[in-house]
Amino acid sequence: MSNKPAKPIMLFDCKTAQSIIGQDKFLNAFQTILNHGAYCQGPETRELDEKLAAYAGTKYCSTCGSGTDALTLALMAWNVQPGDAVFVSSFTFVSSAEAPVLLGATPIFVDSDPETYNMDPKDLQRAIDEVKKAGNLKLKAVIPVDIFGNPCEYDEIIRIAHANGMKVLSDSCQSFGSVYKGKTSCSIADMSATSFYPTKPLGCYGDGGAVFSNTNEENELVKSCRVHGMSPEDHYDNVRLGMTGRLNTFQAAVLLQKLTILNQELKDRFRVASRYDNELNPYFRKQRVLDNCKSAYALYTINCDDRDELMTYLKDNGIPCGVYYPRPVNTQTAYAKWNTRKLPVCEKLSKTVLSLPMTPYLDNEDLDYIINTMNEFAAKKSQKAA
Ligand SMILES: Cc1ncc(COP(=O)(O)O)c(C=O)c1O
Repeated sequence: MSNKPAKPIMLFDCKTAQSIIGQDKFLNAFQTILNHGAYCQGPETRELDEKLAAYAGTKYCSTCGSGTDALTLALMAWNVQPGDAVFVSSFTFVSSAEAPVLLGATPIFVDSDPETYNMDPKDLQRAIDEVKKAGNLKLKAVIPVDIFGNPCEYDEIIRIAHANGMKVLSDSCQSFGSVYKGKTSCSIADMSATSFYPTKPLGCYGDGGAVFSNTNEENELVKSCRVHGMSPEDHYDNVRLGMTGRLNTFQAAVLLQKLTILNQELKDRFRVASRYDNELNPYFRKQRVLDNCKSAYALYTINCDDRDELMTYLKDNGIPCGVYYPRPVNTQTAYAKWNTRKLPVCEKLSKTVLSLPMTPYLDNEDLDYIINTMNEFAAKKSQKAA
């Protein structure tokens, strides 16, 4: 058994990056903004839009107030409205389904693959067939989610969606920096939405998000909806419905700094994940990453039948961990009226998943202790079973 590290182990670490980059860089950037006075959508947001589009490899990026805004703005650009069916993963954070519901569309929940935890293309096809048979909704869009940073089966999901006349909006809120068959996250689907919430792979120090697209038309619609549906020619003529969805300039300045260390942080997330992958007892089932893909490891999530017991054991030993997500969205109170399909995999995952500490700043001492403690639990369980 290795010794418990003297410093506390963290599930997320939103602070250490400040000392890596240097707090003075943030303070200087904030001073510049205080001086120029453009606190919303200032020059830093435009610089960030360009740098993010270049990083993702898309023609356009428009930053906005949050990941939820990003999802909603993309759907607004496609004119999603009442009477539309939007197919969405259920094993996700609530926003993936909240966005279509806010626009009056009907969410159709899709089950997950038991190994990747992502939208199961076979169940997507079944759900589409059911909606077609019922005949009362227009097939509009599919929202797959790269859960915990792990890229979805995009080729198959996009093929099925396009064959049925639908667009695909990738919920990449947890996966900025992941790679799907050589393509960077946010560049794979018709449009993509990401979040810069502090715990995300690229996090700011408040709320933030971005929409990625490849057509000028979609990007202009997102930019208009981001400021209440404003006309680009006449700022006092709102030509469509929109929202207050701007990114504040201070968050853009934070992200410009954080972007400079993103690749190093991603490398360190892979380092942590490889140790878990290689050294954790096979008693813990690991989330499968598809061939030729790289997760951004927003979270490292295993699943195991004794999840609740394991969680208590880890916490008693000073190892923070968390259940993401204890309730698939279809089972949550506000979504009861759309809980129309059986989603057995989502249900099972919600009872068995456990997310372990995942930050770029976990060192070998932390990892030795976490892995040994986990493996000790597995050994006890195997002894009992023998
Ligand atoms: C999968 C997923 N979608 C959407 C969101 C919403 O992002 P935000 O909190 O920035 O609105 C999150 C954030 O937690 C998320 O994890």
